[in-house]
Order: sequence, then structure tokens, then C-alpha cells
Amino acid sequence: MKMILLGPPGAGKGTQAKMLTEAFGIPQISTGDMLRAAIRAGSELGRQAKVNIDVGHLVPDNVVVRLVEERTLQPDCARGYMLDGFPRTVAQADTLAAMLLRRGERLDHVICLEVPSEVLVVRLSGRRTCRQCAASFHLEFNKPQTAGVCDKCGGELYQRADDREDAIRARLVTYAKDTAPLIDYYRKLNVLRTIDGQGDLRTIYARIERAIA
Ligand code: AP5
Ligand code: MG
Repeated sequence: MKMILLGPPGAGKGTQAKMLTEAFGIPQISTGDMLRAAIRAGSELGRQAKVNIDVGHLVPDNVVVRLVEERTLQPDCARGYMLDGFPRTVAQADTLAAMLLRRGERLDHVICLEVPSEVLVVRLSGRRTCRQCAASFHLEFNKPQTAGVCDKCGGELYQRADDREDAIRARLVTYAKDTAPLIDYYRKLNVLRTIDGQGDLRTIYARIERAIA
């Protein structure tokens, strides 16, 4: 199964992807997590990405497309994968379509999580992310059992540089301009399902499960 999780920053893509990946046995491919790993590694790619990420702008299409093309060829993607945060522009969606066609594959589902902007700001400003496994927690809505420590792997929780108020606003503007057009793009291809992204984590998970059944 190949699916895309679409939705604005803070919609819960990463949170739901981590739950789905355990249940469906296919990997989560988060371009955001891959770019942050490159930043931590101090690579040239990481340096380029950091300049854009920290201020809420997109990383150039050719950079992320290359990451996804390579990652999806790994053996753990043989039974499918879940794209989280990719594609994010019409150009990226076109490249993905061409890649799938070339490989004789197809996209099964595009799930778009809908959450109002004012809720997104509250979610992102209280988010804490695991440095090791990239799991998301929230100071109020999704507290770790021990403050500052990841429940899943024991890693240290930190606040992402782009979870400051000014960067959050910029990311929402970038989403509206560059990524929201993908909703119509995938609706026309008859693969889109919009899901209410508000409620507790399990309820949203059940909505997604129903949509892809
Ligand atoms: P990326 O890492 O993809 O960030 P994003 O799209 O802005 O999305 P987030 O990770 O912030 O939110 P999410 O939907 O995963 O929410 P989460 O589950 O964590 O990208 C970062 C940057 O990298 C981009 O700005 C760009 O610069 C670059 N980039 C990445 N991909 C790119 C691409 N394809 N092209 C170009 N550039 C790219 O949840 C958020 C919070 O809410 C958490 O605290 C969580 O605990 C909480 N929460 C989750 N669900 C609920 C719920 N149901 N109720 C209450 N709280 C909840
Ligand atoms: Mg995420």
C-alpha cells in the first residue's frame, strides 16, 4: 500500500503515521524527519535545508525529490510506504506520479487531515519532539509519561526550531500557498479522503483506518 498523509503543519501527520506504520507494517517516510537528520549530521544537504526550515520556507523540490526517490527503493518499502510531508508542491506531486508510473506502481490513498489554524498554532507551540525517533508529544494534549523523555525510545525531547511563533505563522502561509493546491490535485484523481483531524489520537486513527479499508 502506498499512501500520502497530507495536511497543514501540526495536523497530526507524524503522530498518526507512527501509529499506522506499526499497524500496517509499512515504513513512514517523513521528508521533514530526513532533513532534520541531515541537519544533525552536519552534511551539506543539512546546511542547505536548515536555512529554509528554520524560517518556515520549503526546501527546493529537487533536493526532497532525490531523497524520496532513493528512500523508496530501500527493501523495507517493498510492501509499500506512507509519505508524511511529501509531496508539498504540485511539481513534487508530478514528479512522484512520474516515478510511480516508471516503476509500474500506483498510489492507493491520500488522506488529508483537517484542523483549523488556531488549533494548529496551539499544537505546534506546545509540541516536543524526540531527538532520537522523531515521535511527537505535547505539553498538554499528549504528555510523555516522564517530562522531557520519549515514551517510545527513551530519547530526549526538544522543541523544534520552527515551532517558534514567527516560524509557525510562516509555515502556515507556505502551506496555504504551495501545498493546499494538492487537495484539488488529488481530489481530481479520486484518491483523496479528508478526515477531521480534531479529537483524541485513537478516534482520528479509527477515522483513517475506515477511510483506507
Ligand atoms: P515537517 O517536519 O513535515 O513539518 P510540517 O509539515 O510543518 O508538519 P509537522 O511535523 O509540524 O506537523 P505534523 O502534522 O507532523 O503534526 P504532529 O503529529 O507532530 O517539515 C518541516 C520543514 O521541512 C518544512 O517547513 C520544510 O521547510 C521542510 N520540508 C519537509 N518536507 C518538505 C518537502 N516535501 N518539500 C520541501 N520542504 C520540505 O502533531 C503536532 C502536535 O500536535 C504534537 O505536539 C502532537 O502531540 C499534537 N497532536 C497531534 N494530534 C493531536 C490531536 N489529535 N489532539 C491534540 N494534539 C495533537
Ligand atoms: Mg511531522
